[in-house]
Amino acid sequence: MEIEFVRSRFIKHFDGETGNIYFSPGRINLIGEHTDYNGGYVFPGAVDCGVMAEVRPNGSNMVRAYSIDLKDRVDFDINDEQGPRATWARFIFGMVKEFQILGVDVKGFNIAFAGDVPLGAGMSSSAAMESCFGCALNDLFADNKISKWDIVLAGQATEHKYIGTNCGIMDQFASVFGKAGSLMRLDCNSREFEYFPFNPEGYRLVLLNSCVKHELAGSPYNDRRNSCERVVKAVQEKHPEEKFETLRDCTWENLEEVADTVSAEDKQRATFVLGEKDRVLGVCDALQSGDYEKVGELMYETHRGLSEEYEVSCEELDFLVEIAKKCGVTGSRIMGGGFGGCTINLVKNELYDDFIATAKKDFAEKYGHAPKVYDVKIGDGSKKIC
Ligand code: GLA
Repeated sequence: MEIEFVRSRFIKHFDGETGNIYFSPGRINLIGEHTDYNGGYVFPGAVDCGVMAEVRPNGSNMVRAYSIDLKDRVDFDINDEQGPRATWARFIFGMVKEFQILGVDVKGFNIAFAGDVPLGAGMSSSAAMESCFGCALNDLFADNKISKWDIVLAGQATEHKYIGTNCGIMDQFASVFGKAGSLMRLDCNSREFEYFPFNPEGYRLVLLNSCVKHELAGSPYNDRRNSCERVVKAVQEKHPEEKFETLRDCTWENLEEVADTVSAEDKQRATFVLGEKDRVLGVCDALQSGDYEKVGELMYETHRGLSEEYEVSCEELDFLVEIAKKCGVTGSRIMGGGFGGCTINLVKNELYDDFIATAKKDFAEKYGHAPKVYDVKIGDGSKKIC
């Protein structure tokens, strides 16, 4: 995104002065879906599109915010407890509140921002906003003393408390910690992570956006999380002498032990999560030995699990994965929270053109529009630009 695009709007909508400019990216995830809030592993990377904001303290107690994309202006007092109604402005409000909880003396500011992460595509435009605003608040009001992890957690708390999605930490983590050219394997339990340079010679990663919009806030996502928590509770009750905090702590055997106590649906959800936990580790091994065919096989298995067991896919995404199979694509699956958005595809260079052409044609014949195509470039995490 161009700095001038954001700057010209900032100048126009406020008093003509310029501020500082910050950027935070969206993310992809190679594998490890719905494992973050279950204490498992994820394998994300930041992308080269995201959210850019220009911010300047205004000497008052008011936040004056302008969404360039929505052409919408919202003002709120930093000491307000309810916050604005507009969802986009609640991301700013949430980060302000969370920084106040961290002890930061946040003052009023003017902010204009824009994004080029496609909305509802499963690429975490919301985390890009949270980490961008966090990066700005840290720089302007906290002398950059707030740690990267605290920004990640403030972003997640914003989702939980001010938006209504009980998400894990993958998206905010990827947006803050991303590094160009590398994926990251994060253990969501211990928060230890490792950078994995990702340069699959002979293959590329491409996203196909079904353009079916997903809305994670509210029930379907939170329902999945509740199912997992009920299973953990049942296992814990069976074994009071041990500690079971998340599905990470549960084995296949534990799941069988509670099969009669939990609902069939909850068991099915947990089956996906336990399988996914193993698949992420399988992908790590395969990447280390350069076995991309194995990586792809596991991606297809994840898709089957997300579709049949976790039930977060939809007809259009299943269709895109079927096209990928038909075209000989190495791996393909729905990416992100689900209920719409993109598939992520690992495809051999020589098959790329045919795959994209077939996907566009077959999808358009069935659904009346072609999927959007995004070639993945793994970019850097949050930063101050100037
Ligand atoms: C959304 C959430 C993440 C994660 C994914 C699914 O993107 O924000 O925390 O749970 O869904 O892997």
